[in-house]
Amino acid sequence: MSIDYRAEIERMKQEHNITVVAHFYQRDEVFEVGDITGDSLELARRCQADENPWVVFCGVGFMGQSVKVIAPHKRVLMPKIACCAMARMIDGSYFDESVEYMVQRGIPKENILPITYINSDATVKSKVGEMGGLVCTSSNAFKIIEKGLESGKKILFVPDRCLGQNFANSMGLKSCVIGVEEDGKECDPKEADVICFNGFCSVHQLFTLDDINFYREKYPDILIAVHPECDPAIVQASDFSGSTSQLIKYVNELDIDQKVAVGTEYNLVNRMREKNTFVLSSTKPECPTMNETTLEDVYLTLKSIEDGKPINEIVVDEHTAKWANIALERMLAIK
Ligand code: 13P
Ligand code: SF4
Repeated sequence: MSIDYRAEIERMKQEHNITVVAHFYQRDEVFEVGDITGDSLELARRCQADENPWVVFCGVGFMGQSVKVIAPHKRVLMPKIACCAMARMIDGSYFDESVEYMVQRGIPKENILPITYINSDATVKSKVGEMGGLVCTSSNAFKIIEKGLESGKKILFVPDRCLGQNFANSMGLKSCVIGVEEDGKECDPKEADVICFNGFCSVHQLFTLDDINFYREKYPDILIAVHPECDPAIVQASDFSGSTSQLIKYVNELDIDQKVAVGTEYNLVNRMREKNTFVLSSTKPECPTMNETTLEDVYLTLKSIEDGKPINEIVVDEHTAKWANIALERMLAIK
């Protein structure tokens, strides 16, 4: 007889005080068993406030790791420890090199305020915390950069160049990307307010100006809504840009007859209202790592708790956890 995964998951949640957490990009079958769902910021805040001792986190590695860092007393397990491709673009040594790049071009280390997008490993968050910096997500980046500017320091933004440049643009700030020449000139930290690391999300790079033009030509009154991980040219050509939760809110508040094309991960867009909502791409923009987790994986992870042999537990060493926590708490303190 085959196992009814959903029923078993619900039973084990109740019997063993387990909270299942799922990001919006998870497959429908996984998303539907989530007790806590949301964007990266909401997931972090709500997991911290949740009372259950066990968290089964369905998402990518940095998300489960962030929960472990801000709520160290919890046991955090991930059905798949899938690593966000963007988070993998930077590690501690690339971070140090970026700081060095700025120092060599005349910005003393004490005049640099690092901000890391939450899509980064705890080692990077830890280095950021040690330098007095903080974390941001796509839903609070504006506020966090604004706060950072109060220090009067140059902002080193890692790892997403798109998020860094998109928010710099929306705030009327000058930005540049380390290693990328503009008009034949390399990134000069003296000339810019926000200096970005050259990382990006390959899924959000799939949305192009051709896609926007296609939809605008086909439906002249259509609205275009995208995630700020998209290229700055795409964000500028759109009507709205926001985190996953902000995109859902934007689409839900539209008149049902209003057409909208959304530029973010496929599973989320596919779950939005049925009528008049389109995926802003001619391809299927799936995040491979977010899609790794299956309902069977979730079942097996809960079962491992029930059997007293927990699998895929998140562990962060003491020093890294201490400073990563400081960087995350500095963010969480900003309402
Ligand atoms: P949100 O914080 O908007 O949910 O984004 C997470 C993410 O990885 C987007 O690609
Ligand atoms: Fe990472 Fe991009 Fe996937 Fe988001 S969509 S988890 S940034 S690879």
